Amino acid sequence: MTRPDLTTLSFDEMDELRDPRPDVQGFDHVVERALSRRGFLNGALAFGSAAAVMGLGGLASTTSARAQAAGRFAFAPIPIATDGTVHVPAGYRWDVVAKWGQPLFPDAPDFDHETGGTAASSERAFGDNNDGMEMFSIDGHTLIAVNNEYTNPEYLHPKNPDGAPANAEDVRKTQNVQGVSVIEVAEGADGWSVVVGSPFTRRITNTTPMRLSGPAAGHDLLKTAADPSGTKVLGTLNNCGAGKTPWGTYLTCEENFNNFFGASNPDHGFTDTDKRYGLGAESGYGYEKFDPRFDITQNPNEPHRFGWVVEIDPANPASTPVKRTALGRFKHENAAVVLAPDGRVVVYMGDDERGEFLYKFVSTRPYAPGIDTGTLLDEGQLYVAKFNDDQSGEWLPLTPESTGMTMAEMLIFARVAASRVGATTMDRPEWVAVNPIKAEAYCALTNNKNRGVKPNAGGDATPVGGPNPRAKNLYGQVVRWAPVGDDHAATGFKWDLYVMAGNPTVHNDAYAGSANITEGNMFNSPDGMMFDSAGMLWIQTDGEDDNAGDFKGHGNNQMLVGDPVTGQIARFLTGPKGCEVTGITWAPDRRTVFVGIQHPGAPFPDGEGKLPRSSIIAISREDGAVFG
Ligand code: FEO
Ligand code: CA
Ligand code: CA
Ligand code: CA
Repeated sequence: MTRPDLTTLSFDEMDELRDPRPDVQGFDHVVERALSRRGFLNGALAFGSAAAVMGLGGLASTTSARAQAAGRFAFAPIPIATDGTVHVPAGYRWDVVAKWGQPLFPDAPDFDHETGGTAASSERAFGDNNDGMEMFSIDGHTLIAVNNEYTNPEYLHPKNPDGAPANAEDVRKTQNVQGVSVIEVAEGADGWSVVVGSPFTRRITNTTPMRLSGPAAGHDLLKTAADPSGTKVLGTLNNCGAGKTPWGTYLTCEENFNNFFGASNPDHGFTDTDKRYGLGAESGYGYEKFDPRFDITQNPNEPHRFGWVVEIDPANPASTPVKRTALGRFKHENAAVVLAPDGRVVVYMGDDERGEFLYKFVSTRPYAPGIDTGTLLDEGQLYVAKFNDDQSGEWLPLTPESTGMTMAEMLIFARVAASRVGATTMDRPEWVAVNPIKAEAYCALTNNKNRGVKPNAGGDATPVGGPNPRAKNLYGQVVRWAPVGDDHAATGFKWDLYVMAGNPTVHNDAYAGSANITEGNMFNSPDGMMFDSAGMLWIQTDGEDDNAGDFKGHGNNQMLVGDPVTGQIARFLTGPKGCEVTGITWAPDRRTVFVGIQHPGAPFPDGEGKLPRSSIIAISREDGAVFG
């Protein structure tokens, strides 16, 4: 069999290639179950999870729900786009603030469109594929900490025939365009721009020294020849979504770290836990060929040192980032932080892979302004979600007793622990967003073509039902839950589906979507999500943008605003062809929202003949009014 070009595969495709899963559930059975759930759209919300879709009665009828969204939106929704640039509603404007390769330090060279830069220039410039980000106001300075999730080799190494790294310099360059950028931004007559030379500026890369802390730190599984202490790691990998603590630190989340490792021995004996985390012989980036740290044959424990949530103090560029093992190791999407009524810190976290789980951490000690927060995220209880078909749910504690694993093993192999307690396999949990004005949280379940078809990587069945109600789910949905007693630390919750994405112009069954999906707001693959201060939910998409077949009428990836009260959803932004819209944070005065345009396919934003560059854009109202 001809192997596909690894540099062009998505992370999911890579995982599937390495670990093809058996079809154990039977196609006929799947179809039967899917058909039995027809009737979503006609008010026949008769049973099971079908009844859970906007089951709170927010939509009076199918007819009114499919009417053009108006309601509480402060903008006129825009149509889809299929072109190479950004569109926002009338009365709003957008501008580029930062783009891949842009110099952050006075000594850094301008970006070179011929070469995509060098290893040295990349370390002094804005990173590639910006994703989750958070704004910090520090002594009158506005900082944005932003993830640089990964890189597209065909653009990063435009002179290499297949884009693959050809030597150690290429690998160092690849490592230096990723990680995290901390930038200061300021608003001038021409809008927002980066403050080059700000003392807060920092690049954190795949090789920046970091510390492991919490219950698993120092465990044998975290020790390597270079670090016999099991507490000192170089770098952070595949930083996807983010979070912000009440004490002013940034949480960056390591997602598809597995794709940066390979094995020089083609017969390397991968363990069950290696396989659960998607480790394989060949990486997508060639690190293992030029940097032995990423060769699993030589360093089998190095992958255990990634897949964590990392805490960074953006106010102190000399500080050492800390990997918090108490929050568990998996393919972390984001870290949505909220305080329980008693001050304990609750962190909601998705594990973005087909059939993996939704987690939360609850700190042992409460947070209060002024306390020492150095170990607040090191002590606490990790839970995993179980959703019941009757719209109740519970957070199952992961403990040595409940899992039969030691504390350290349980955290390092959190997926295995979660399987053992019977957590609900989910349709790829992406961002969690917490409503600031009501005790509820939302998680984007982006899509899952394996729902009802194949088990997850641990062999857990992925039955159709609960918050994952569609077999071969190609559109995705958003689940929300309200904790018992309005207490995010509580172990019980009630859930429903806020929206099921779909296409009512192509389908007239469950794949049309829930009643709040209309021809005017269609989208697929919800991913990034953030609430604004008014309690409106901003939803970003990372889906199929071919605008054909099942996706006809969806156009390019986009950003929408959802009203949690009425269920209405309105399209606010469309991105350039090929991009994903991901990452959102507001300026301190909330007159500007910063949004990420990741991996545009078109030559955005510099135009024809130039390399496409992932960018942060700033969007504001032409009348200068506060929004969001
Ligand atoms: Fe990096 Fe699951 O998105
Ligand atoms: Ca994402
Ligand atoms: Ca995604
Ligand atoms: Ca992405």
